[in-house]
Amino acid sequence: MTNHTTIKNKISSFNKVINISSDKSISIRSILLASQAVGISKISNLLESEDVLNTLKVIKKLGIKYSKNKNIYSIHGYGINGFNLKKNTTINAGNSGTLARLILGLLVRSKFQVKLVGDKSLSKRDFSRVVKPLRHMGANIKSRNNLLPLEITGTNFLRPIVYNEDIGSAQVKSCLILSALNTPGKTIINSRISRNHTELMLKFLKYPIRVKKKGDKDEISVQGLNQFKAFKYNVPGDISSAAFFIVLTILSKDSHMIIRNVNINKTRTGIINILNKMGANIQFKKTKIYNGEKIADIYVKSIKKLKCVNCPSKLNSSAIDEFLIIFLAAAKAKGISKFKDLGEMNKKESKRLDLAIKFLKLIGIKVERFQNNIKIYGNPNLKLSGYFKMKNFLKDHRIFFLSCITALTLGGNWKIYDKDSINTSFPNFIKTLKFVGAKIS
Ligand code: S3P
Repeated sequence: MTNHTTIKNKISSFNKVINISSDKSISIRSILLASQAVGISKISNLLESEDVLNTLKVIKKLGIKYSKNKNIYSIHGYGINGFNLKKNTTINAGNSGTLARLILGLLVRSKFQVKLVGDKSLSKRDFSRVVKPLRHMGANIKSRNNLLPLEITGTNFLRPIVYNEDIGSAQVKSCLILSALNTPGKTIINSRISRNHTELMLKFLKYPIRVKKKGDKDEISVQGLNQFKAFKYNVPGDISSAAFFIVLTILSKDSHMIIRNVNINKTRTGIINILNKMGANIQFKKTKIYNGEKIADIYVKSIKKLKCVNCPSKLNSSAIDEFLIIFLAAAKAKGISKFKDLGEMNKKESKRLDLAIKFLKLIGIKVERFQNNIKIYGNPNLKLSGYFKMKNFLKDHRIFFLSCITALTLGGNWKIYDKDSINTSFPNFIKTLKFVGAKIS
């Protein structure tokens, strides 16, 4: 089977209502927490992408049974640290930084040593951000240069710590919250604001976790060694996947889109703030709270004149996975857009800041970089012609999505490789584009 996509035509005007794939962060967390609940949890609308299927494989390897009936996964938990693992177990997190970091938090008290491995991209990512605090709590972790493979052996001598989380990483924060479940006493994490799905899910499960605002940080206190009961959960749509369709609509002529049932948790909606600052008029309708999370239908339409933006870095964490596609909007805006302190982008599935700059230059946009700050010189008349060949060596799903949306909105004749990367987060990406009217093969 060919592993590339060809796009030769811009998308024509559309007026569509779509459902977007389910949220990846929430899917992974719901499985991991179900694996620690007492009883059989039922999760509907789980994202069936590789990162999430790898999460199911990992809990199975750790002795947790699950089954699927129609749209519902049943997961049989035996409580906190209820894994039933064999000696010399190896688990594979594939491409998922979230799975790899979060599962370590659940293994700090495991009976035997567990080896954690991952794919080529994950094996290049630094784990010191979780290894350091976990060791401080008493966990035994072996690794070379803080890279995978890691070996973790549980201990019964964990201590509650007070930890300052200064990166603004939800993966680090969530890893520590999960390890705190296994630790006697009260663990305190002073965390820069980042996506808070783990906290909301534990609150929804009535677990003793408290979050207090302290300046620009959250003080999160977790009382360890409490059990929680099995639960029912329905996973909402993923705003990080919706992002590509939002920008597709904004940059297409005379088009409208409604995206149904998307998670609009404030810690995830940086892209909406940024695009609205640029002159878009994106609205949330039918807003409701479900399982502790805010959900809405997103209404978006084309914009003739986008303005440049001076993006405040306080929005970085809530838009961290969306900057690639935000940069495309900035490329079509009038004026010079400025983005600051984006070093974290280079710590993702690929070095996204470096690649974004190369990409913008490839499509004829002037970009200036100083350290991790960039200036994008927008060109509202930008149109592409000629041949573009996009290779994506680390198979970064979001680089693939960006290339497709660029081709469909700016033109040119594109051959985009590594199509199978869509399976990481959004297996229906191409199907959904075709539904909206894209001619794509
Ligand atoms: C995620 C957190 C973010 C994000 C990633 C998913 C999560 O990473 O980039 O795609 O589910 O916790 P960091 O927490 O490392 O910023």
